[in-house]
Amino acid sequence: MTTTPTKQLLGESNSFLEVLEQVSQLTQLNRPVLVVGERGTGKELIAERLHFLSDRWRKPFIKMNCAALNEELLESELFGHEAGAFTGATRRHQGRFERADGGTLFLDELATLSTRTQEKLLRFIEYGEFERLGGSGVIKSDVRLVGATNVDLPSLADANKFRHDLLDRLAFDVVTLPPLRERQTDIVLLAEHFAISMCKELGRELFTGFSSNACKQLNSYHWPGNIRELKNTVERSVYRHNSDTEALDSLSLDPFESPYRLTSNYPPADTAQQSPPNLVESNGKQKLDDGDTDETPEQFPIDLKSRVAEFEKALLTRALMQAKHNQKKSAELLSLSYDQFRGYLKKHK
Ligand SMILES: Nc1ncnc2c1ncn2[C@@H]1O[C@H](COP(=O)(O)OP(=O)(O)OP(=O)(O)O)[C@@H](O)[C@H]1O
Ligand SMILES: [Mg+2]
Repeated sequence: MTTTPTKQLLGESNSFLEVLEQVSQLTQLNRPVLVVGERGTGKELIAERLHFLSDRWRKPFIKMNCAALNEELLESELFGHEAGAFTGATRRHQGRFERADGGTLFLDELATLSTRTQEKLLRFIEYGEFERLGGSGVIKSDVRLVGATNVDLPSLADANKFRHDLLDRLAFDVVTLPPLRERQTDIVLLAEHFAISMCKELGRELFTGFSSNACKQLNSYHWPGNIRELKNTVERSVYRHNSDTEALDSLSLDPFESPYRLTSNYPPADTAQQSPPNLVESNGKQKLDDGDTDETPEQFPIDLKSRVAEFEKALLTRALMQAKHNQKKSAELLSLSYDQFRGYLKKHK
């Protein structure tokens, strides 16, 4: 149960302000609401806002991720069960519909509900009542439902995978969150907020700001993971940025990006034909043998320069990781002077 809103909702773009306006109007009503949008667009924060701005704000805000459990466990979590309802049910269990009485029940990942659970939900919306698993008495609860999904429910209903009648009732109104790429004026604003929070977390006094190059990167990337991806990217980039004076110039968009990944991530079926020499083994150790193995020998022609560059990058990355991004220590690990090391970093960007 959450008793206070956990996070701030930031944004000034028109599309986002329109959503906030719609949400303020919906807080006055007791009807079910659907919050839809791509992953990471802030659906859960909007559901919280719907609750905490409503008259129900002193009462529980209960969340349930419908994709997290199988049908039986989910129903037991939602509706509760009596002792002996199924193997392992030793005591009566109060479900989330009961616990949310007077407040809001947030059903996340709603599209994954089974047909049977959809029927029970429909009954609750129609009559405000349900039964515990293994129970015979009807229980009433005063709950406002807020559902969320990143799936297009009307298409799912057309494909007979979601009940049309349930959808009609759940979707009294639908709040559709815009993807981050459609909120251009919010990207840098949000990025700065996340960067400043990360600096605080790291005990750094100031955030040195984003360079114009970094702002360009922020604004041109399409952010498929939306605000969650932006938050992670900014936090990672701030953490990796080791200067208290220079502006952050380059974003670390892909945490998996590594020359080590490039040398070990080829489709197995084509390995014999296409893979480059495995200069780095899966355990990260450099190979020392000269080909006296069972592996297929190198197929020429190869591009020697790019292979050597990949190998250099792999070693630089490993040294940096081992030295926790301390560049002086990384240089020592590679028997290089600090300037030589910086030279290599620059060469490989
Ligand atoms: N307007 C906003 N201002 C600040 N932070 C935000 C905003 N919207 C979302 N966030 C942050 O982005 C992250 C993702 O938000 P949230 O979990 O609400 O998204 P979601 O749409 O429910 O994602 P998913 O579909 O993956 O469940 C969270 O860390 C949240 O705090
Ligand atoms: Mg969510």
